[in-house]
Amino acid sequence: MADTIKDFKTMQQKLNLDGADLCRLAQDFRRTAEDALAGKKSSLSALRTYLGLPTGLETGTFMALDFGGTNVRASRITLSGADGFTIETKVSKPLRGDAYDYTTSSTTAEALFDFIANIVKEAAGGNEPYKLGFTFSFAVNQTSAKDASLIAWSKEIDVPGVAGKSINGLLKEALVRNGMDRIEPVALLNDTTATLLSSVYQHNPAQIGIVCGTGFNMCYYEPALSMIVNLEAGGFSGGPRTDWDRRVDEESQQPGDHCFEKMIGGRYLNELFRVMVMDYLDRDDVPRFTTRCMNELFSGEKTVRDVLGFDVTPAQKEGLCALGGAVFTRAAQMIGAASFGILGHLAGEEELKEQAIAIEGSLVEKIAGVPSVIEGAVCRSCMGLSEGTPIHIVPNSHGASIGAAIAAALCCLLYT
Ligand code: BGC
Repeated sequence: MADTIKDFKTMQQKLNLDGADLCRLAQDFRRTAEDALAGKKSSLSALRTYLGLPTGLETGTFMALDFGGTNVRASRITLSGADGFTIETKVSKPLRGDAYDYTTSSTTAEALFDFIANIVKEAAGGNEPYKLGFTFSFAVNQTSAKDASLIAWSKEIDVPGVAGKSINGLLKEALVRNGMDRIEPVALLNDTTATLLSSVYQHNPAQIGIVCGTGFNMCYYEPALSMIVNLEAGGFSGGPRTDWDRRVDEESQQPGDHCFEKMIGGRYLNELFRVMVMDYLDRDDVPRFTTRCMNELFSGEKTVRDVLGFDVTPAQKEGLCALGGAVFTRAAQMIGAASFGILGHLAGEEELKEQAIAIEGSLVEKIAGVPSVIEGAVCRSCMGLSEGTPIHIVPNSHGASIGAAIAAALCCLLYT
C-alpha cells in the first residue's frame, strides 16, 4: 500500500510544471508564434482569418453552423448590437451515434456534408434566404473570410475527399441537394476566432481567443496585420512531454501531429489518464472512457467501478484522483503559459495591460478550478508578475455559434 502511494506521487511529479517550466514554455511559444508570423519554419501557424474585431454594433438574423468537435450545431441567431443577441433555434447532433459514424475513413465527403446540411435545415425551419456563418474548427487555408480549404483533419476525424476542397463550396452543394438553396454560406472561421468575436461583441476587451474542448487552439488579434490570426496552437512542438504523452500520440489516428493538443484537448486527456492508470495499477485491462466520465469520477457523480469496471482500494482511489487532477492542472497551466507568450508578443516593451482572454470549451466550463489555474499560470509564467496581474479568463459559452453569426454579419458588410 505504501508503495502505491509513493508511486502516484512520483508519477504526479512528472506532470508538475514549476515557475521556471512555465516561463520557458511561454518564451518558447512566443518565439515559435513570431517565427510563424515571419513566415519562418515553425510548429505553430499564423493563418490569416481576414477578420478584424467587431464593433459590437453588427445586427441582423443569421444562420450559424458549428462543426469541429463531437457535435454539429446549427442555430438561427439574431444579433441586436448593444442589446446583445438571441439564439432563436438550436439543433445539435453528435457526429457519432448508435447506428452511424460520420468521422471515419469509410464516410464520404457528400455523406458528411448532407448530415450537416440537414441539421442546418432543421434549425432554419424552412428554405429562407438566410446568410450563414460556418465555424469550421480545423486547420484551413484561407484567402478571404468568405471561405477556406481544409489543410488536414485533426481530433481523430478521417473523412476522405475533404482536404484541399472549398468547405463552404461543399456545404453549399449539400444545402442545394437537400432543398435549402436559399441559404447562402458567406463566412468561414475557426472556433477560436468565433470565441474572440463573440467575447468582444459582448464588451469584453480581449485580444486572445482560446478553445479547449475536444481539441485545443488559440488565435489573437495581430495589429500588424489588422486581423485575427489562427495559431493552430495544438501543433506546437514545445512543452515537456512524458512517456505517457508519447504513448497517447503513438496510439492516435495522426501520430506526430497536434502533440500539444494531445496534452490539453478533451479528446485526449481521457487517454492520457487511462495510460497513467494502467501504469499506476499495473494492469492492462483498463477500458476506454470519456473525459467527461473521468471528471464525473473526481466529482463523485461516478464510482471507480462505473468508470473502470472494477473496484480499487481507498488509497488507490486517492492516487487515481491525484493523477487525474494533475492531468487537468497541467493542461490548464499549459494554456496559461502559452497565453502569456502571446500577451508578451502583443505588449512588446510595454507593461501588460488589464485585459480578458476569451475562452470556450469543456475544460474551462466543466472542470472545477480550471479558470483560476490558467490565470495563476499566466502570472507564474513571468517570474516578475504578481498574482494580482489583471488578466481575466472569460468563459464564453455558445461562442462558436454567436461568433459564426457575427462573422456572417461582418462578411455582409465587407463583401457586399
Ligand atoms: C483544430 C483547430 C481548432 C481546435 C479546437 C484543433 O484540432 O486544428 O482548428 O480550433 O481543434 O477545436
